[in-house]
Amino acid sequence: YIGQMATALAFTLLTLKFSLLGGCTFDDGPGPCDYHQDLYDDFDWVHVSAQEPHYLPPELPQGSYMIVISSDHDPGEKTRLQLPAMKENDTHCIDFSYLLYSKNGANPGTLNILVRVNKGPLANPIWNITGCTGKDWLRAELAVSTFWPNEYQVIFEAEVSDGRNGYIAIDDIQVLSYPCDKSPHFLRLGDVEVNAGQNATFQCIATGRDAVNNKLWLQRRNGEDIPVAQTKNINHRRFAATFKLQEVTKTDQDLYRCVTQSERGSGVSNFAQLIVREPPRPIAPPQLLGVGPTYLLIQLNANSIIGDGPIILKEVEYRMTSGTWTETHAVNAPTYKLWHLDPDTEYEIRVLLTRPGEGGTGQPGPPLITRTKCAEPMRTPKTLKIAEIQARHIAVDWESLGYNITRCHTFNVTICYHYFCGHNESKADCLDMDPKAPQHVVDHLPPYTNVSLKMILTNPEGRKESEETIIQTDEDGMPKCYYGNYV
Ligand SMILES: *[C@@H]1O[C@H](CO)[C@@H](O)[C@H](O)[C@H]1NC(C)=O
Ligand SMILES: *[C@@H]1O[C@H](CO)[C@@H](O)[C@H](O)[C@H]1NC(C)=O
Ligand SMILES: *[C@@H]1O[C@H](CO)[C@@H](O)[C@H](O)[C@H]1NC(C)=O
Ligand SMILES: *[C@@H]1O[C@H](CO)[C@@H](O)[C@H](O)[C@H]1NC(C)=O
Ligand SMILES: *[C@@H]1O[C@H](CO)[C@@H](O)[C@H](O)[C@H]1NC(C)=O
Ligand SMILES: *[C@@H]1O[C@H](CO)[C@@H](O)[C@H](O)[C@H]1NC(C)=O
Ligand SMILES: *[C@@H]1O[C@H](CO)[C@@H](O)[C@H](O)[C@H]1NC(C)=O
Repeated sequence: YIGQMATALAFTLLTLKFSLLGGCTFDDGPGPCDYHQDLYDDFDWVHVSAQEPHYLPPELPQGSYMIVISSDHDPGEKTRLQLPAMKENDTHCIDFSYLLYSKNGANPGTLNILVRVNKGPLANPIWNITGCTGKDWLRAELAVSTFWPNEYQVIFEAEVSDGRNGYIAIDDIQVLSYPCDKSPHFLRLGDVEVNAGQNATFQCIATGRDAVNNKLWLQRRNGEDIPVAQTKNINHRRFAATFKLQEVTKTDQDLYRCVTQSERGSGVSNFAQLIVREPPRPIAPPQLLGVGPTYLLIQLNANSIIGDGPIILKEVEYRMTSGTWTETHAVNAPTYKLWHLDPDTEYEIRVLLTRPGEGGTGQPGPPLITRTKCAEPMRTPKTLKIAEIQARHIAVDWESLGYNITRCHTFNVTICYHYFCGHNESKADCLDMDPKAPQHVVDHLPPYTNVSLKMILTNPEGRKESEETIIQTDEDGMPKCYYGNYV
């Protein structure tokens, strides 16, 4: 044990000699050490001096140090003593003595160590102790890795307990530019950027032995603590701790740092940023530039977006408004032609944008809902079928005309007929059919006459005619033709 002590002493002397950056023994109060009482706390730490008499219980240590006398304050009141800011790229170990003491062993309050970065929020303590620890000084060390140009300020905060009983004291602070002996040091924690909705992972790597029993957590600047998900020893002097934030949103965007804590001290990393990017989405629907029976020419219209860039992929997603399937095509020009569409059909077209990283595809933008034009009818209707022949009428029917023939939802079916009576007398007429009833009776015909019939399919884009069919009406003894109607 004595050997160990000697080694420790030699080690301390060595580190003192080569790397003492600052500190305070409070012989003349905190001022000469450039330590400041916080102006916005509830009260100040009291300086006790070896030279001046004070009214502390005799069992408390002699000497000069800073103390909080709990009975002088209300429960929950706090005081903070701020160390000068540390800025340089360095590994700092801050060593200090503390005690929390009350005669009857009651809790005097809590000693919190805060590390404030760039004069930002105080955040949660990186180390804290509460309850009576006894009348003798204890030592703890803080491993604070600092990264220029950020400013790190260590703050000793005492909080008075409900019992308002006893003393909280600190002394002999040493700031060493040297790794701590007992608390692990974190390597620089890098920023993490993810797309909203993804899981974010921070990996903290620390050096220092015997970290197995340390408490480890990820501290958010707003005060939230995230428990460790996994720890792994890289080698006997280095370990990695993984922290997971599930399916993050913009509200998780903040600064985070790694903290370890044991009775003997704490280690704290730099603050790293969690950057949550919103996958991009177009503000406006695509614009229609041109339309045909089987194509739609669109302008993606995706220059104005909601969310974050850069955009690495643009896609057009389209479907029939009445259909269930959706097709998606990558597009690398400002305009895109959708081919092989159905005529006279309504389509819904949206633009999808993607930024880098997993989950980088945003919601589709607002839709363009538009129709293709009609196409010319596919083919001539099949020849008419003759259902019945009489002297005065002929009944005809035809195959029902599906969309795949009409290629338009609005179309007319017309039956035209003509015949001659005598040598120069003729009659010709066309009748619009009800497209839903594929049959018709052509009546008021003369008997024993060749009647020529044909069918015409018309839509706004064109017409197709069937072959003519010539049918001879039956005889019924009446004259073939006369002027006026055949009844
Ligand atoms: C601190 O380290 C960073 C990165 O290693 C370097 O860019 C910077 O110049 C250093 N600053 C100082 C003051 O040493
Ligand atoms: C230390 O502070 C944390 C908040 O960061 C709190 O949850 C914990 O109870 C405190 N521990 C002690 C011993 O006061
Ligand atoms: C996030 O992690 C949870 C649990 O590990 C998992 O179930 C989920 O699928 C992950 N989410 C994404 C977007 O990867
Ligand atoms: C048109 O569609 C019907 C079914 O709706 C089908 O039986 C027929 O073969 C199709 N005709 C053509 C020319 O595609
Ligand atoms: C056709 O018949 C009408 C009488 O029905 C007659 O007036 C006319 O001259 C005839 N035309 C020819 C070219 O024979
Ligand atoms: C109808 O036409 C056919 C063939 O062209 C012919 O043989 C027949 O005599 C005609 N019938 C009448 C009543 O003119
Ligand atoms: C169909 O018939 C109606 C009425 O006869 C007419 O107004 C319309 O233009 C026709 N449509 C086509 C495509 O020919």
